[in-house]
Amino acid sequence: MGTTGVTGKIARQDWLKPVEDTLRKGVQRAYESGGPRGRKIKNWLHGTWLGHPLHAVLTDVPIGAWTAAMCFDLVDAIGDREEFGKAADAALMVGIAGALGAAVAGLTDWQDTDPPARRIGLVHGLMNVGSVALFTGSLVARKRDSRGLGRGLSALAYALATVAAQFGGELVYGQRVGVDHSAGQKLPEDFVPVLAESELREGTPQRVRYEGVPILLVRRGNRVFALAETCSHMGGPLSEGRLIDDSVKCPWHGSQFSLEDGRVLDGPAVHPQPCLDARVRNGQIEVRKASGQPLVRTAT
Ligand code: FES
Repeated sequence: MGTTGVTGKIARQDWLKPVEDTLRKGVQRAYESGGPRGRKIKNWLHGTWLGHPLHAVLTDVPIGAWTAAMCFDLVDAIGDREEFGKAADAALMVGIAGALGAAVAGLTDWQDTDPPARRIGLVHGLMNVGSVALFTGSLVARKRDSRGLGRGLSALAYALATVAAQFGGELVYGQRVGVDHSAGQKLPEDFVPVLAESELREGTPQRVRYEGVPILLVRRGNRVFALAETCSHMGGPLSEGRLIDDSVKCPWHGSQFSLEDGRVLDGPAVHPQPCLDARVRNGQIEVRKASGQPLVRTAT
């Protein structure tokens, strides 16, 4: 996906590449070294259990807490209300704790992004690190009875976090990171023929189209499976993926989906893959949007 304006300029800052590569490799190695447990933790942090990116949920904590802290500081400064100053301190701490959780989840998602989103994500993350450092400095200043300095550092940190949030918005709305790339595709409501049965080879994923929408067909023994072919993670072509038992692994970032019902077996995808009913009639494979009823997938 292209970039314009400030984000375009950031995407072209190639001097950031070594930082990007080192950090990415470090995160990947950390999860790989954890074996199956590392994989479980990684999936949990992506939000595969939630059906939604966990990072997006966790970011509400620091944004909310820091906004509250700004309001408490203002009341304290205007009305000389000490109790609001203490409330601001507590809100800052909640925000910092929330930001650490959001950072771990965000870093986990970030490693599975591609350029230019990867670079924009790096800058988004670095700005947030700077913001957390300033908020931490603010807390230290407050503890040392330099409340004025503390408030100033918080205001600076909040401004930086706001700019970082703009880059977060670009990642989601501009680069479509964390968005379901398989959503909104027109799938047939009723059975329509898409391929001659004789053309679907055992164990070889095949792409067919219905009104331009790519659909994945897989034959396993006497069963035919059908899923939307565009990977829900970032739009990878599942027909070029690898079959592992009754699942397909995306060739781009390795998300694994059950052929049976499209559920995510392995991230980074968090949105299930749209599933279709498939049947064979008069030598043709027919598909329709999954009815939710027991699936008819026999190839006889
Ligand atoms: S596009 Fe990323 S796992 Fe499929």
